[in-house]
Parts: sequence; structure tokens; C-alpha cells
Amino acid sequence: MPRVCVAGYLTEFYSMKNIVLTGFMGTGKTAVGRELARLLNMHLVDVDTDIEKSEKMSINEIFEQFGEPGFRELETEMIKKLSERNNIVISTGGGAVVRQENVDVLKKNGVIVCLTAKPETIVRRTGNSNDRPLLQVEDPLEKIKELLNFRKPFYEKADIMIDTEGKTPLHIAEEIIEKVKEKDGKNKG
Ligand code: S3P
Repeated sequence: MPRVCVAGYLTEFYSMKNIVLTGFMGTGKTAVGRELARLLNMHLVDVDTDIEKSEKMSINEIFEQFGEPGFRELETEMIKKLSERNNIVISTGGGAVVRQENVDVLKKNGVIVCLTAKPETIVRRTGNSNDRPLLQVEDPLEKIKELLNFRKPFYEKADIMIDTEGKTPLHIAEEIIEKVKEKDGKNKG
């Protein structure tokens, strides 16, 4: 099926809900979000980028100045604000789903998609950047495993789970469209 048709089909049946990308750091939410927004002709918003813009500070600076609790407050505020919009792709930060309040507000108006990857893949994908304060530790792999272990039950509450191992962002975006379509069909009985 031509790509434009896949997207057209989805738009027809999938009226106005947001598509929310969740998942651990390095699972590809930003790259996949870009592909998804392009294929569906939807606007992409990135929660972290919008926080950085509104605070005029980087995520690292926010963590340094206000600590993780301060960042989480800003994150919840931004998620509430973005959830009022319709028909957009929202890429969230990896820790956003730990707060039930964030999930509730995102679910009201959106389908939640969680991207997954193995800890070894995540450490490789995140290794070159120093813009993730939680991974600025001596043993990032250990930290990733520990956080993943704690967050697993929160990630698993998503409507759709997608394993990203060995797949391109385009392939993942197409898989998301198929699954959202399937789910939407089921919901309509
Ligand atoms: C975080 C993930 C980051 C960012 C912040 C905290 C987390 O976003 O929100 O550094 O707690 O997992 P990405 O998942 O986009 O890297």
C-alpha cells in the first residue's frame, strides 16, 4: 500500500487524537516522532524541547538548578499544556510516565505508544551525548538497568508496545500506524 494511503486511512478512522511516544531514553522517540509526524502530516511536539524553550535553559541546567523534582514539576506542567491540543504527535521524556498524573492527562486525548530497547542498545545510543543528566554516572549501563527495572511496570501501561531493536525509525513509525489503526478498529467494534 502506498505510504500516503496508509496515512490517509489512519486519518480517516483516527479522528483528532494525539499519538504520544513514551519509552526510556535512547529508544528513539524523537527520530520516530519525526517520521510519524511526516507520514501522518501531523505536528510534532517534544516535551523536553518545549520545556527548554519556555525556561530558556537546557535540561542539564534545569537539573543542576532545580534538581530532578523541579524538572518533574515543569514536565507535568508542560504535559498538561500540550495535552490540550489535538491531532499532534507528542514525544515525552523517558521518565514522564512514572507520574500517574501525566499518564492520565495524556490518555484523555491520546493513544500512548511505548518504544522499548535492550539496555545494551540504550547505552550505545545514548553514549555519545552528555545531555542526559540521569546517565552522567560512572556506570551508565548499570544505571540504565536499574531505572528500567523500576520503570518497567509504568512503561507497560501503554496502549501499544513497540520493540525497536534492529528497526529503522521509518519502519517503527509504519508499525505504529498499523497498530493504532488496528486498535482504533477494535475500539469501534
Ligand atoms: C529523562 C529523560 C530525558 C529527559 C530527562 C529525564 C528520564 O528525555 O526528560 O533527562 O528521566 O528518563 P529523553 O527520554 O528524551 O532522553
